[in-house]
Amino acid sequence: MRLSDCHNIDDFRRLAKARLPFPVFDYIDGAADDELTKGRNTSSFDEVDLVPDVLAGVETIDTSCTILGRKSALPLVLSPTAVQRAFHWKGETAVAKAAEKFGLWFGISSLATRSIEEIAALTSGPKMFQLYVHKDKGLNTHMIERCQAAGFDALALTVDTIVSGKRERCLRSGFTTPPRFTVANMISYATHPRWTLDYVFREKFRLPNLDTHVSEGTGKAVSIAEYFNTMLDTSMDWSTAAAIREQWGGKFVLKGVMSAADARRAVEIGADGIMISNHGGRQLDGSRAPFDQLPEIVDAAGGEIEIICDGGVRRGTHALKALCSGATAASGGRLYLYALAAAGQEGVERALGILKDEIERGMRLMGVTSVDQLTKDRLRSRC
Ligand code: FNR
Ligand code: LAC
Repeated sequence: MRLSDCHNIDDFRRLAKARLPFPVFDYIDGAADDELTKGRNTSSFDEVDLVPDVLAGVETIDTSCTILGRKSALPLVLSPTAVQRAFHWKGETAVAKAAEKFGLWFGISSLATRSIEEIAALTSGPKMFQLYVHKDKGLNTHMIERCQAAGFDALALTVDTIVSGKRERCLRSGFTTPPRFTVANMISYATHPRWTLDYVFREKFRLPNLDTHVSEGTGKAVSIAEYFNTMLDTSMDWSTAAAIREQWGGKFVLKGVMSAADARRAVEIGADGIMISNHGGRQLDGSRAPFDQLPEIVDAAGGEIEIICDGGVRRGTHALKALCSGATAASGGRLYLYALAAAGQEGVERALGILKDEIERGMRLMGVTSVDQLTKDRLRSRC
């Protein structure tokens, strides 16, 4: 299979599976427990149907929108994801450049393998920093101050990882940050020479936004679960979020809100946006799909806060359905990660091009010329 054989996100998943050692693929593809929520995140889009208008004069359409005060060419955000250097040696650099080329928001994780400063110097496109609140309060302040100095456009505080989900594929594979070769996984690394040679001989793996304060994840190999359960602040609560918003002072998003009550709380503390999300099913398995939860959240807080529907998006029409349900935009991680892992920046650009085409084609066939025409009367629920 080659990059030119990839015509949808699932094709990229297959190519990534072929090109990656299984511990790395399983870290991307895997989720918590029985992975029910991960599956539901995507299948929830199949429960509603689009109702098109015809003869609407759609020769010229505008797919753009404004997200957190910055123009986005599509109603789609590339969600922050960790340790991208472990997927492809160009890591977050590749994603940042592809996002800039397509005029999209993207985010870097606290556990990114490129520094806040490197990413800021690389692109003037809209970018968010995703903050994990660590026990080390000096580290939290240090990251926020680095983002302020680097001119990041938004801070996304992730709130659904107070403890790690049970990542059973990683328990079996022994995946760690940085990746370590073990007897159990050595053959997989040895039989994927392109990945392994890049990993060994290209620039050294590190978590540059963290290794000023902690060695875990860079010098000391740990699983993501161990990192979460030992390094993050389990006492984090609404007062923590309010204080971080105050300290940051810029566009502020809570990532991982799922209840209507919490959406209201986010409005009350003055957040600019929420990413309704279950972390791609990697945290609480059995929790509801963001797309299923979207109408309740829109009823509770729509119009008072921007609402990004995160997770399960694999088609342009998924984003269109999310907007019809009241979302400001859709977002996702695997929708670009499989492509990154399979083929670096060229892969991400191909994936974003496919999603752009699907959004444009979907809007034309829906009979809409701008995203604000995507309203809930254009959806019918099957159940
Ligand atoms: C993630 N996600 C994530 N979220 C976050 O706040 N900080 C992080 O560091 C990461 N890291 C990460 C790594 C990998 C490999 C994946 C797949 C996901 C969650 C991510 O931001 C997003 O919420 C989900 O990816 C959405 O689900 P989909 O689009 O992958 O189905
Ligand atoms: C994950 C963390 C890093 O989902 O957010 O793997």
